[in-house]
Amino acid sequence: MRSLIDILDFSVEELDKIIETAIDISKKPEKYSAVCRDKILATLFFEPSTRTRLSFEAAMLRLGGKVLGFSDAGSSSAAKGESVADTAKTVSCYADIIAMRHPQEGAPYVASRAATIPVINAGDGGHNHPTQTLADLLTIKKETGRLHDLTVGLCGDLKYGRTVHSLISALSRYEGINIVLISPKELGIPDYVKADVLDKCEMNYRETECLEEALPSLDVLYMTRIQRERFSDPEEYERLKDSYILTLDKLDGAKKELCIMHPLPRVNEISVKVDDDPRACYFKQAKNGMYMRMALILKLLGYMGEVGDDATPETFESDELRCQNPKCITVTEQEIVHAFKKCDDGSVRCIYCENKVE
Ligand code: NCD
Repeated sequence: MRSLIDILDFSVEELDKIIETAIDISKKPEKYSAVCRDKILATLFFEPSTRTRLSFEAAMLRLGGKVLGFSDAGSSSAAKGESVADTAKTVSCYADIIAMRHPQEGAPYVASRAATIPVINAGDGGHNHPTQTLADLLTIKKETGRLHDLTVGLCGDLKYGRTVHSLISALSRYEGINIVLISPKELGIPDYVKADVLDKCEMNYRETECLEEALPSLDVLYMTRIQRERFSDPEEYERLKDSYILTLDKLDGAKKELCIMHPLPRVNEISVKVDDDPRACYFKQAKNGMYMRMALILKLLGYMGEVGDDATPETFESDELRCQNPKCITVTEQEIVHAFKKCDDGSVRCIYCENKVE
């Protein structure tokens, strides 16, 4: 069985096939409109969402399937203290595939180990968001014509912005990618992304605090909002919330064919006046997300040939070691096996949230 927890769970060839299928779906929707007629998608959303949940639901409905689920933890048995693993086992009795969003990092991975049906990570805390990356890859491919030889600027909250973490991982596998990380120092990219992806894959990257300085070199500008809900100190959020605001006059220095992206929701980091600029691609990106989720459902339910099995990474269990990341699922749930992996840089990391364990 196959789940999608991390974008690297799929090979480049598999991603290419998903992109190809999504493009075909967008051109010939009627060909796919009844493929999943006897299938049910469960959307288990323990955290608010508009785009991701509705786009999963639209994806399944447009494939002729049905959808059930909940959109906040308060209306699920989590409010009674049920574990993520038990919820996943129970929902496996009712549905054919699960899309799960959870505030604790690693929760969808825990679900995938317990479920008997495929689990899709629809965002776990500040960690990963692989299906947003599917939307991002299709958008870059359609707008620039390629997924290689690109200078990509990632701007805003690179610390808590999970979409950026998954996108960097995905881009690490293409040739000629230059990454420009644009953020205040306090919201820089987490160490594990630097060590495990940027440094390990010898990616070309640089860091700057200045959007205007970076803009002229970019083929893609990926804006993100400052993630208020992940700050432990509200004053720090107030201080940093207006760090970047993209306006039309700033775009004067940018390339004519720049592709401006944003996973949405937007707060104020892109002026609405930019929406009419032909370089603004963020609403097209939302539509691309639905087509990619349709293709992903087809892939995981076996409609695109051999599904394959989940990878089984080398891990070890420990009664003494504990993950210290307060946002890790192992911190809020007692019954999870504490398991770790040894990384190439010599560090030991939690298998659920990937944080370094001292
Ligand atoms: C993103 C998310 O949930 O991480 N939104 C989305 O899925 N489209 C970005 C965000 O919330 O800022």
